[in-house]
Amino acid sequence: MLNGKLVRLPGLADVHVHLRVPGGEHKEDFFSGTAAALAGGFTTILGMPNTQPPLVTYAAWHKAQQQANLQSLCDVHLYAGASPEHLESLPDLGRDAVGLKIYMDQTYGPLRITGLSTLLSCFQRWPHHKPIALHAEGRSVAVGIGLAAAFNRPVHFCHISRKAEIELIAQAKEQGLPVTCEVTPHHLFLSDADIPRLGTLGDMRPTLASKQDVDALWAHINTTVDCIATDHAPHTLEEKLGPDSPPGVPGLETALPLMLTAVAEGRLTLERLVALMAHNPRRIFNLPHQEQTWVDVDLGHKHTLTNAGLYTKCGWSPFSGMKVTGEIRWVQFRGHTVFKNGRILANLC
Ligand code: NCD
Ligand code: ZN
Ligand code: ZN
Ligand code: ZN
Repeated sequence: MLNGKLVRLPGLADVHVHLRVPGGEHKEDFFSGTAAALAGGFTTILGMPNTQPPLVTYAAWHKAQQQANLQSLCDVHLYAGASPEHLESLPDLGRDAVGLKIYMDQTYGPLRITGLSTLLSCFQRWPHHKPIALHAEGRSVAVGIGLAAAFNRPVHFCHISRKAEIELIAQAKEQGLPVTCEVTPHHLFLSDADIPRLGTLGDMRPTLASKQDVDALWAHINTTVDCIATDHAPHTLEEKLGPDSPPGVPGLETALPLMLTAVAEGRLTLERLVALMAHNPRRIFNLPHQEQTWVDVDLGHKHTLTNAGLYTKCGWSPFSGMKVTGEIRWVQFRGHTVFKNGRILANLC
């Protein structure tokens, strides 16, 4: 019976993770963040540059990437961040970083590009073949599509959460524009109706949206949506429940069980899940293939998500208490068993 429900998936890739190094190591570090990734079935993750200091110069990015290479249990590729003060760094960063992250709207961290001329400079200086990922909300999505069209180059939209945004991206794709997008599990499985229950634990950017927005994301899950990305954004409970609560929620360890639940409910096929969580992210970001790397999941296992036993340093989840169908049993990474039956077995070599 149990064996009948075991299925082997490729190692998943999450293109949107905050690992908090440097400067936020009390929230997460490369070791804890990649342990959480493996426990969640992700063997490749892309780390965001909104650290303290942010990864906006070659020296800062390179130091963090080297540290990641030494302290991570799975593959970590760090984005470079766009900053108006360091536009001259972009060609060097463009050689080695996995992509450029541009924050067009207000969120956690120091990075933001507001002026059109600065945006233009970023697009002029970043290599044409290297990914650009945008934090763009509302009308900023239209600006990003305009830049993709004007420069005829790929642009990836992070955490798309609103009906109008996903419909605009669908329209752009219909016109043949080179745009892609990711959607997070929290925008698929939570809505603004959960805010009274969750309080600040339900606060992130983009904020949780209406039921109509959530329905629109699901309506595009088999077409317009390219990737499921977690936007794993850990902050401690003390920070989240205190004054000036920062936006962001963790998600690495809950994304696959939630998406498997959607498969069990017939909202998408397992093949589509693998496209959204492995093949498409690897293709869009040109991520290297990993030999002998796979994730065995039990499709039938029903359980309730809890905060207990999480590997993320922040130790909580906005999905705690939710019932899911599907569990990660065994993760193999380059020929080594790195996670089995709830335990991380990986070592730093
Ligand atoms: C992210 C963070 O905490 O770094 N927070 C969030 O609410 N999503 C920043 C971001 O991804 O915009
Ligand atoms: Zn963002
Ligand atoms: Zn983020
Ligand atoms: Zn269980």
